Amino acid sequence: MHILITGSRGQLGQALHTYFGPSHQVTLWSRPQHDIAHPATAHALAALAPDVVINAAAWTNVDGAEAAPDAAFAANTLGPKYLAEGCASCGAILVQISSNEVFAGEPDHFYREYEEVGPRTVYARSKAAGERAARQILDRLFIVRTAWLYGPGGSNFPSKIVAAADKHGGLRVVADEFGNPSYTPDVAAALDQLIHTGRYGVYHLVNEGHASRYVWAAELLRLCGRGHIPLTPIPSSDWPRPAMPPAHAVLVNQSAAALGIRLRPWQDGLAEYMQTFIH
Ligand SMILES: NC(=O)c1ccc[n+]([C@@H]2O[C@H](COP(=O)([O-])OP(=O)(O)OC[C@H]3O[C@@H](n4cnc5c(N)ncnc54)[C@H](OP(=O)(O)O)[C@@H]3O)[C@@H](O)[C@H]2O)c1
Repeated sequence: MHILITGSRGQLGQALHTYFGPSHQVTLWSRPQHDIAHPATAHALAALAPDVVINAAAWTNVDGAEAAPDAAFAANTLGPKYLAEGCASCGAILVQISSNEVFAGEPDHFYREYEEVGPRTVYARSKAAGERAARQILDRLFIVRTAWLYGPGGSNFPSKIVAAADKHGGLRVVADEFGNPSYTPDVAAALDQLIHTGRYGVYHLVNEGHASRYVWAAELLRLCGRGHIPLTPIPSSDWPRPAMPPAHAVLVNQSAAALGIRLRPWQDGLAEYMQTFIH
């Protein structure tokens, strides 16, 4: 199978390369040579004619998107549109990676795959529009939402918390924002299983369970021998951001689980990451 990975230098892109590289023909696209927001993407993809395209490229600066909506929509909406056009021309399957943030994140709600989206930020609106843009063009499409990604080679919540804890010796962490901490190698393995089912549609691939930022931080510090560092739980109102994230955009994996595809509990993926990559 010939797989094109876009955004190949990002966190998920790197995990996909590591996972698929040894066993498949893999083509890696990254900026600046391959900007998916450029209309020429469609023709370039059609000429390459891979079997599968996994679009891991995205504008992921959630706060920055508020001041740069054109750039966010170009990458997150026009990008998937051009990729879908290219896939339609050459018969490739598209895996469009999307986000838990497309949901409003109502307190105590757990979001299943076919519930109505309710994006609240520029980033979230651009990702939801990217789902629609791809869907309007392509049938052979997996829309895969994930959440709170971290993994080798990325600047992510665990690596930032460890660095901040070492620098400051104590941290305030938001305790009323909830999500599914998801380990990129686990997501890559689940994507492989999903692609092989041939069952197109919308999926939520996240590690099992959910946590607040505070609980996630406490667990990751414990796992790397920094459990003694004092953590103070704070409300998100004490940590204002240009784009306030949804409070409880917690995803439920119902569709993939029905096909036998489940990710391990988030604590297990986190333990592997902390033991292997953080010292
Ligand atoms: N990170 C999370 O917590 C999270 C949560 C839910 C969903 N997701 C989704 O998961 C996917 C992967 O996220 P990630 O954490 O791996 O993101 P990431 O580490 O920020 O990587 C994104 C990659 O996309 C590239 N990119 C941005 N705009 C592009 C464009 N116009 N053309 C080509 N490449 C472009 C970036 O390149 P540069 O290095 O040049 O900027 C970067 O290498 C995204 O779809 C994201 O929306 C992420």
